[in-house]
Amino acid sequence: MSISVVILAAGQGTRMKSNIAKVMHPVGGKPMVIRAVETAARLSHQTPIVVVGHGAEAVQSAVGGRAQFVIQAQQQGTGHAVMQADSALRGKADYIAVFYADMPLLRSASLQRLIDAQLDNRGPITLLTIVAQDPRGFGRIVRGSDGSVISIVEEADCTPDQLLIRELNAGVYVFRADWLWDNLAHLTPKGSKNEYYLTDMIQLAASQALPIVGLESDDSDEVIGVNTLVHLSEAETALRQRVNRGWMLEGVTIIDPATTYIHEDVRIGKDSVIQPNTHLQGKTLIGSQCNIGPNSIIRESTLGSSCTVTGSVIENAILENHVEIGPFAHLRAGAYLADNVHMGNFGEVKNSRLGPGTRMGHFSYIGDANIGAEVNIGAGTVTVNFDGVNKNKTIVGDNAFIGSDTMLIAPVTVEQNARTAAGSVVTRDVPEGHIAIGVPARLRQLNPSPENENGSGE
Ligand code: UD1
Ligand code: CA
Repeated sequence: MSISVVILAAGQGTRMKSNIAKVMHPVGGKPMVIRAVETAARLSHQTPIVVVGHGAEAVQSAVGGRAQFVIQAQQQGTGHAVMQADSALRGKADYIAVFYADMPLLRSASLQRLIDAQLDNRGPITLLTIVAQDPRGFGRIVRGSDGSVISIVEEADCTPDQLLIRELNAGVYVFRADWLWDNLAHLTPKGSKNEYYLTDMIQLAASQALPIVGLESDDSDEVIGVNTLVHLSEAETALRQRVNRGWMLEGVTIIDPATTYIHEDVRIGKDSVIQPNTHLQGKTLIGSQCNIGPNSIIRESTLGSSCTVTGSVIENAILENHVEIGPFAHLRAGAYLADNVHMGNFGEVKNSRLGPGTRMGHFSYIGDANIGAEVNIGAGTVTVNFDGVNKNKTIVGDNAFIGSDTMLIAPVTVEQNARTAAGSVVTRDVPEGHIAIGVPARLRQLNPSPENENGSGE
């Protein structure tokens, strides 16, 4: 048994009022079309087909090798869109799953349910329905007296009675492939725009006395279709609730789920607490018993257990266990903080290693440096790593003491147990057992006489 997935993504999305192709708008930090392709990958090992039209280039470059593309040059309807996949797929799969790229919350579990049901279906179609009080312009599911699905009627074509139907077409289908390819040719264009409706396949099967199975979804969020930027924010909220709820059920405390933004690829250990207004993005891993936020952004980073991050930004960094960050700290690409590092306010670390137990309390920049264990980095310390041409390296040994406001002019080494005095400008290596003392300020007498003051004369 083999399945191919066809994702429809050619529509213009006029109502988005945006120059960006509709399916390129992100939900949960990921373009909708990428979500659709990832959903397809969970169902089938076969490369999915994405039908593209408007914004095809942008979609193709974002998706890359994860899908095969077929072009629908003119958007002549959902049925016409599926026809474009015929030559790529005919004879290649037993079943074809079809869904739209603008349904960002669609779960692969629901598609799997449809596939499983279709395997037992003597007829050629199984589709997903949703019962909702707000019909939101969806096609109505018409069932016969025996309960079987006999047609889908688009809202514009409904009789007054049909308009009252509250079982709606989600737009997610599994077809038996040979039947689909043979019968798509029977569709005829209709409606004011002369379109081929994929939904007419249902009536076609019914007219051949073939059974159609309609399975109801129990998750109203998953059929949210994005047609406007208002829908986009509704999808964003619904996804956020789904993800946050999932983590709470896994033992993560989320103080205020409404202001906690966790991307789906994030992983969080038990008994961690996520404070309000915290953004966990990309492939971020957080260990157990951490306390994150409030007001923090952590992107593509790995944190061990029992870390504390308060009001800080962490990007592409690694923190081991019991690390304390913030408030107002910034860790950038390549920052590695070993166990028990403490980094206080207004510090920045980039492409540097801070050894176990090192403390950096206030106002410091550490870039392109290797700092040992138990080092004290005084307030205002700067690794002067850039000479205008090259980035140079600073090395500080274990147990060194860097006095406040030290400028470490790289390349430079401060050996273990060495010290620098407050305000020193260190241009040469400091060997073990030495202290570097910087430029002391000289005393001059203040001269307040007005004729010596700039701008005071005529
Ligand atoms: C469609 C269904 C409707 C269902 C609803 C659920 C049809 C005729 N109607 O209506 O029963 O309730 O979805 O959301 O299928 N697309 C193409 N090429 C085209 C036309 C559309 O790729 O020529 C893509 C669009 O980009 C979009 C999707 O197909 O992602 C759905 O098209 P849309 O025009 O939004 O269909 P609906 O009117 O919403
Ligand atoms: Ca739609």
